Amino acid sequence: MAFSLAAKYASAVLLLLVLPCHGAAHNITAILGAHPGLAEFTSLLASTGLAHDINRRNAPITVLAVDNAGMAPLKARRMPRAAIRRRLSLHVLTDYDGVKLRSLPPGGSAVASTLFPASSSGAGGNGMVKIVMPGLGLGDEGRARFLPVGSGPGFWQAAFFVKSVYEEAPRDMSVFQVSAVMSAGGPRKATH
Ligand SMILES: *[C@@H]1O[C@H](CO)[C@@H](O)[C@H](O)[C@H]1NC(C)=O
Repeated sequence: MAFSLAAKYASAVLLLLVLPCHGAAHNITAILGAHPGLAEFTSLLASTGLAHDINRRNAPITVLAVDNAGMAPLKARRMPRAAIRRRLSLHVLTDYDGVKLRSLPPGGSAVASTLFPASSSGAGGNGMVKIVMPGLGLGDEGRARFLPVGSGPGFWQAAFFVKSVYEEAPRDMSVFQVSAVMSAGGPRKATH
């Protein structure tokens, strides 16, 4: 009797210890679903399979979401799904969480990996994103900036930090809203 009670407690404790390790319980579609202003971004994240890839990861991850107005230029270009996936994969920083981002000093910068498949890039860029923190100098816009590294000639686009949308416990998932869909270069009209 005493033994089976102890065993029950032991298994309950074991369950508690094991549960948090079992797959990150985050669901980016559900998290973003609470924000209708990010609906276009959310829908493309799901249809390109990026949402699935994000949910599968256990490592810290930061998703840079863009509001519906910011998504309009991308939508207007009627790009193939694979090209849209490449563009949005730059918005998934794979080794940064909110805590690590905030620890960058004023005016400092860092380079983050993303889900962008560097090897298949025909549009410049190496799949890394440079994060530049606002400095204290004159003319500084006071917002962190995200720039694709190794951008090719032609059209490229940086994004500015807008606000924090969601932050989980340290070293898990953060969602920030940024001003635009980043581009690593290439002709403005091509469906790269
Ligand atoms: C994630 O959330 C969305 C929206 O609530 C839901 O449709 C989907 O089934 C969820 N996915 C998983 C793997 O739980």
